[in-house]
Amino acid sequence: MLKTAICDLFDIRHPIFQGGMAHIGTAELVSAVSNSGGLGIIGSGFYEPDWIREQIHLTRRLTDMPFGINIQMASPFAGQVLQMVLEEKVPVVTTGAGNPENEIPGLRKAGMKVVPVVNSVHLAKRLERAGADALIAEGAESGGHVGETATMALVPQVVDSVSIPVVAAGGICDGRGLAAALALGAGGVQMGTRFVCSDECIANNRYKQKILEADDQSTVVTRQVLGMPQRSLKNNLTDRFQALQNAGVSREELKLFDRNRMYLGLIEGDIEDGSLLAGQIAGLIKEIKPVRAIIEETAAEAERIINSLKKFEEE
Ligand SMILES: Cc1cc2nc3c(=O)[nH]c(=O)nc-3n(C[C@H](O)[C@H](O)[C@H](O)COP(=O)(O)O)c2cc1C
Repeated sequence: MLKTAICDLFDIRHPIFQGGMAHIGTAELVSAVSNSGGLGIIGSGFYEPDWIREQIHLTRRLTDMPFGINIQMASPFAGQVLQMVLEEKVPVVTTGAGNPENEIPGLRKAGMKVVPVVNSVHLAKRLERAGADALIAEGAESGGHVGETATMALVPQVVDSVSIPVVAAGGICDGRGLAAALALGAGGVQMGTRFVCSDECIANNRYKQKILEADDQSTVVTRQVLGMPQRSLKNNLTDRFQALQNAGVSREELKLFDRNRMYLGLIEGDIEDGSLLAGQIAGLIKEIKPVRAIIEETAAEAERIINSLKKFEEE
């Protein structure tokens, strides 16, 4: 069985994280991942602390394995959510959409492991200095908010610039991706889009089907003008957003136009006018599967690939 420093650090059987995903990283998915030997992570999005606390309690009822919570630093409730997470002592905190530098010491002091998502070497070094336990290096192939550097280039550069363990994210959905990430020096992977298409994910089925129908050209990055570029499946919404952006519509109007689109797409299943966050790897996902199958097949395939690569030594 593949065992890496990430397995030891987070007390998990397989070096696989389920990315914290706003609206759909709920207790159902998180507990299924943790019960299958990965690290399930609650997506707190822009939700209020009470809703998130409920998800933590529900997760605890469904699993006694370690799990995490993702805090979006850009959330208007980030401060209150951090306070609540300190009270609840969630074992692992990942952070997205911002810099958690000032919060790391407090979380660690309370006994939590802090794993920020980074998309640059600069931020990786800074957050290692601030005391992060590990980092998630997320490449531009990812679904959701993205930076500019692709996973293949970002991961080895982050690995070489820090001495804490690194988890690779972006463009990974199977054992080939896990084996590649380990070859780049990562200790594990975080997958998002793959877990959307699981039985346990509460995402609307019309959105899941759109991912299954996707090919390698189906996603696009929009919202650059809002300062938060986001990758999602192309649809009427992304076309209209780009047209408005090109026409020079103000940031305020674009923000208003964009409001609640994620809930509309992910939960209500409006596949034309809702936001359908997904990564470039969507084109490789062809089946909705149980979480346990996703995790066990990914780990087993990676192990097979790593063993098969040894044949090159003999040639
Ligand atoms: C629907 C969706 C919602 C996401 N929401 C968040 C979020 O709230 N916070 C965060 O840090 N990352 C978020 N992400 C990114 C994932 O946690 C993960 O890092 C990413 O999906 C990995 O790339 P992949 O989609 O190629 O697997 C989201 C991704 C998706 C697909």
